[in-house]
Amino acid sequence: MSIDTNIPRALWFDDDRDSLVVVDQKQLPFRYELVHLTSYKECILAIQDMTVRGAPVIGATAAFALYFAFVQHGYSSAFSIASKAIREARPTAVNLMFAIDTLLKNINSKTSKLDVLNLAKQYAEKDVQDCFLIGEHGLKIIEALYAKKQDTIHILTHCNAGYLATGAHGTATAPIYAAHKKGIPVHVWVDETRPRNQGANLTAWELQKNKVDFTIIADNTGGHLMQHQMVDLVIVGSDRTTANGDVANKIGTYLKALAAYDNQIPFYVALPTSTIDLSIKNGVNEIEIEQRDARELTHIKGIDKNQIIQEVQIFPNHAKVANYAFDVTPARFVTGLITEKGVVAAKKESIHALFKK
Ligand code: MRU
Repeated sequence: MSIDTNIPRALWFDDDRDSLVVVDQKQLPFRYELVHLTSYKECILAIQDMTVRGAPVIGATAAFALYFAFVQHGYSSAFSIASKAIREARPTAVNLMFAIDTLLKNINSKTSKLDVLNLAKQYAEKDVQDCFLIGEHGLKIIEALYAKKQDTIHILTHCNAGYLATGAHGTATAPIYAAHKKGIPVHVWVDETRPRNQGANLTAWELQKNKVDFTIIADNTGGHLMQHQMVDLVIVGSDRTTANGDVANKIGTYLKALAAYDNQIPFYVALPTSTIDLSIKNGVNEIEIEQRDARELTHIKGIDKNQIIQEVQIFPNHAKVANYAFDVTPARFVTGLITEKGVVAAKKESIHALFKK
């Protein structure tokens, strides 16, 4: 498949400067800034401080991090230590581990730097292709709803599973962009997504850039909208999906799935198969849930009247806080998984069949 290089990207490799260029997601929606990463340690930091975030883009960044580690250490024990450090940069998104394992399978003492760079580039391009295909498969779901309703399709999404979180297109947003491109009227309810506000800051920013109609809502609003027939469909992304179809995604996803289930609203998860972890069955018991810095909760970021990005404290001094970054939605609440290989039930048999295709 030929890749459209004009679609917005969250990262790309700059051959002239031998650097990985990433969109600094910490600055959005206030500033669009690019950062050049030139070492594996800088890539790890970018993953940890959320310069890059979102499961697929973390995986792609890790692939290039491995290239930088190879340039620095060659095929050596120091390279193995570096690859382990990259693999452990964040715990929940399995794409990170998948990227490292995929590349390492093809690296040995005869591999050149250029080979490793090409492996990283291929990995990142495959992610773009996968997201494009997720869009094509998910489009059919929106088309079917539109054929019945003949009016605007209201889609609720949580966090940012857009192009910023992937190579391009996004996962949850890919079907939305595809529908919009086809002229189907869509409107997106964007969950603010506390504590980091990836919905309000990132999803809203990219939908606006792509001229897709949206409304930002506080995280607790979705249930109310669903009870009043104001949501036709929910599509979210995933950080890790188990062999049985349980889905780890941004904290709060589970509550949206419960509300959708109670209101008979289809709840789809869009993900490349690289997000599926066949080694895990029960997501609630087995997926490690990342706990992040309390400051994400105690403080909030905004831009002041002098256009300076500021953080202000919103909690009482010394308040005890717990900041769980993800939760797990059991498969029974998931209508289907939209993958690059097609839409399948969140069930063991259908998920296993995906890997035989
Ligand atoms: O903590 P984040 O911002 O990395 O969490 C991101 C999400 O939960 C996304 O929904 C998920 O990675 C899917 S991205 C296509």
